[in-house]
Amino acid sequence: MSVENAAIDATVRSILEAAWQPAGYTTPNPRIYPWQWLWDSCFHAILWGLLGDRRALVELESVFACQTDSGFVPHMGYHTDPDAALDLWGRAGASTITQPPMYAHALRVLADLGFEPPGDLVEATRAGLGFLWEHRMRDEGLLVVVHPWETGCDDSPRWDAWVPPPYGKAAWDHSKRSLLRSIRTDADGAAVANPAFEVTSVAFNALCAFNAREYATLSGDAAWRHRADALAARLAGRWDAHRGTFVDTDAPSGTIPTLEALLPLLVTDATGVSPAWEALGDPDRFDARYGPRGVDRRHPAYDPNAYWRGPTWPQLDYLLWVAAVRAGRREDARRIAERTTRGAVASGFAEYWNPDTGVGRGAVPQSWTGLVLAMETGVGP
Ligand code: GLC
Repeated sequence: MSVENAAIDATVRSILEAAWQPAGYTTPNPRIYPWQWLWDSCFHAILWGLLGDRRALVELESVFACQTDSGFVPHMGYHTDPDAALDLWGRAGASTITQPPMYAHALRVLADLGFEPPGDLVEATRAGLGFLWEHRMRDEGLLVVVHPWETGCDDSPRWDAWVPPPYGKAAWDHSKRSLLRSIRTDADGAAVANPAFEVTSVAFNALCAFNAREYATLSGDAAWRHRADALAARLAGRWDAHRGTFVDTDAPSGTIPTLEALLPLLVTDATGVSPAWEALGDPDRFDARYGPRGVDRRHPAYDPNAYWRGPTWPQLDYLLWVAAVRAGRREDARRIAERTTRGAVASGFAEYWNPDTGVGRGAVPQSWTGLVLAMETGVGP
């Protein structure tokens, strides 16, 4: 291990140790985000695995602690105080919405690292993906999210059609809470529909297709490979060459060129969408000294300091790095890893940061920013 990698390894270890909870999960940040979040914990599991620590599997088990019989996995778990958000969700212990099912990817990476996947985790993963395909698949062959929080990209300009500009965090928080009220849940409290917000987010669909592929690799289940391929084919059809982005739905804001909308690069044939790779490497669009911009800098919505509206988010960078490595785009992978690591270090391992200055924003430190260790050591793809 190089001197730089050893320093990053030590930093990540100390961030994760400080955020670890006796209840069996790592908080994104112990003070600002004291609960468990689904996709964060999947990334944390990868990091514990990289550090050779069996808490990798403990953390994944806790992701499924509140899984319902229908397979639904909540996006938040309130393990230490089940009533903490009873008013918000109308149920104890966990939320009623979900987040990208990154558990299949985490389990596949852990298997590669030598952690034998326990049978119950493999089955929970299958059931989690099964819920999405059963309850969220719509006629057009794409899955819907029923709330912006389900994408993990909370204040993305892609939701501007529901929360009109100008952007203000307080107004958005208010609107997102209103959108919770129209969610329809099944008997176990799992969100299945929302007349006020159903979006075929290309970012969410890309992560579902990617995780379905990871599950197929792990289990050898050909049916899941077919499902993943069918979803990936639908996504490829959402590439809009004129706008230079994959497009969500009919809502106009679903065409705004955001970074998360490039996630279909994880599963679509790289040759058909090479302009998307070019956009990622273009300093007039996404490329910046401290990591990719969260929104194309040419778009009026771009703000390098505003939550989800321009800063660099390390978990997205990691996913695009995985996409680049898998597509054999070594120069893209190297550039993403190098810039993101520079930003992570400059920002004090912040939750997200300004892509031009590296000044940290949100929680500092944030556990998932440790993903730069995966990029530096080549673990993940
Ligand atoms: C913010 C992010 C979300 C993340 C959570 C915990 O809400 O938008 O993606 O899961 O924080 O880190």
